Amino acid sequence: MSVKLASSDAIENAVVAELPEIRSLSTPELQSKVVAVWRSFLVESTYPTISACPAIPGLPQYDLAGHTRHVVANCMFMADSLLQFWSIACDRDALLAAALTHDASKLVEQEGPNGAKSELGRALLHAQAAGVRCLEVGLPPKVAYMVTMHPYTPPHVHIKPQYVELVILTWADLGAADPLLFLGGEATHLEIRRRFFELG
Ligand SMILES: [Fe+2]
Repeated sequence: MSVKLASSDAIENAVVAELPEIRSLSTPELQSKVVAVWRSFLVESTYPTISACPAIPGLPQYDLAGHTRHVVANCMFMADSLLQFWSIACDRDALLAAALTHDASKLVEQEGPNGAKSELGRALLHAQAAGVRCLEVGLPPKVAYMVTMHPYTPPHVHIKPQYVELVILTWADLGAADPLLFLGGEATHLEIRRRFFELG
């Protein structure tokens, strides 16, 4: 299935209003492709907006737009400090595009006010649809790789990262989620309770 790039319409404007960091991508083409990912899931979603979708099942007070922006901010802080302290630059467009789209498929993987898994969410592992969608709209394979691999992190699964940007995204995402999990009484990724899980 191919997905059209976002045209200038109400959905595109709504996506950018919810995720204004899209405008920080360096080219209009990249911005349009990231919008296209979100737009395509929004039209398939039971949620009317990105912020209507919970980011963390069981903690519906934290919405997907806020979480996405939190992860983007963490990524940019980490990229800035890597540059400031060690003069190490990274691919900011790839990092930003991946951070902006990493959880986009939650719009179709989840349904209902508590973010219960939808039929699609039970059929595919998290973020696989988003990774494919990134390719369909023409985002680089590097971005699709980061989106696809981002859930496969310790303590669940161990991978060998191909890019420093995936290392940053991974810890930025865990850094955004774990304080909220802790404060919400849920297991953080530091805890043995998160060590084992079953797919289903
Ligand atoms: Fe996330």
